[in-house]
Amino acid sequence: MRSRAIRVPRSEGEEARRALVHASKLRTDLRIRVDGNDVVFPVGPGALPVRGSVAEDEFLPLTDRGSARRYQDLVSLPADRRALLPRAFDVIGEIVLVRIPKELEPDAPAIGDALLRFVPGARLVGADTGVHGPDRRRSLRMVAGTGSWRTQHRENGISIEVDVERAYFSPRLAREHARVAGTVRHGETVYDLCCGVGPFALAIARDGRAARVAAVDQNPDALELLRTSLGRLAPRIPVEVVQDDVERFLARAEPADRAILNLPLQGIKYLPSVARVVRPGGSIHYYEVVERAELDTRAMTIIERTGERSDWSIRESREVHAYSPTSDLRAYTLERRGAA
Ligand SMILES: C[S@@+](CC[C@H](N)C(=O)[O-])C[C@H]1O[C@@H](n2cnc3c(N)ncnc32)[C@H](O)[C@@H]1O
Repeated sequence: MRSRAIRVPRSEGEEARRALVHASKLRTDLRIRVDGNDVVFPVGPGALPVRGSVAEDEFLPLTDRGSARRYQDLVSLPADRRALLPRAFDVIGEIVLVRIPKELEPDAPAIGDALLRFVPGARLVGADTGVHGPDRRRSLRMVAGTGSWRTQHRENGISIEVDVERAYFSPRLAREHARVAGTVRHGETVYDLCCGVGPFALAIARDGRAARVAAVDQNPDALELLRTSLGRLAPRIPVEVVQDDVERFLARAEPADRAILNLPLQGIKYLPSVARVVRPGGSIHYYEVVERAELDTRAMTIIERTGERSDWSIRESREVHAYSPTSDLRAYTLERRGAA
């Protein structure tokens, strides 16, 4: 059902919800929606007490979460086990993924049911035991709901075809996908290396400034999903979808202005080859899981791995999100000196 809507960053969602309720502006007949890193609230007419982008949007009828403010409120457990309930979960399209601690395994169906009732638009809940293997596929177990692992996820206004079991996708990178796409200049050749289902390539293609984008991955399932998303997006610029090993692709690749390398635990081994194909004045958006204790020295190690230390500098290094109690996923922007 369509309604007037306001979109705010997820980090401000709870504060915005309270302000909208207080001002009697939040529609109580429709489900609040999560879209990537944003929350979209269905609202009534008139001035709103919250800052955000206001437009018409599509909503489902309200969930049966009742007065619960957190999904945990919908799980009945003794207090000692209740304290172990995971606080975080990911929403990918109609699918909710949650990491369930070993001690709560017998309670997995109850956790799944609670999430299904709590998350707007949820169809299926999966217990996530992490990504594995060279294709970074997720190991999953259905704990509640119905249907397949395939869904459409909306991120940065783009509909992305995802199969959470067959190809890697993380909704926690939505801002990165938009940020990197925002740095692309007119006429650039861009390589999205280890593209997965192609969220970087799709955002760049939608923005339309690049002259050419090549999206490269070895997982054929990921590329089938990307082709489906591209079919829906119908971008004006050419996007070449290449099934290949990244090293083999780079060995015969034309020079590029920008390369994205998002293979956070192993990507460093490809950095010398990526650096060789990027033109003077060009950039690499490189992702890595970095131990916090090594943060100071890591930047220099990364520059050294380009193989041409005097040619490269790090323009930006930013934390994307925590990865473990001692490490973070970080985004580095490497720049090659010389004329653009
Ligand atoms: C962490 S995922 C990144 C996905 C995507 N860039 C994103 O932001 O959602 C890493 C991807 O690298 C691919 N991959 C791993 N090793 C590769 C290689 N040697 N050549 C090509 N692709 C590779 C995997 O199949 C996987 O899709």
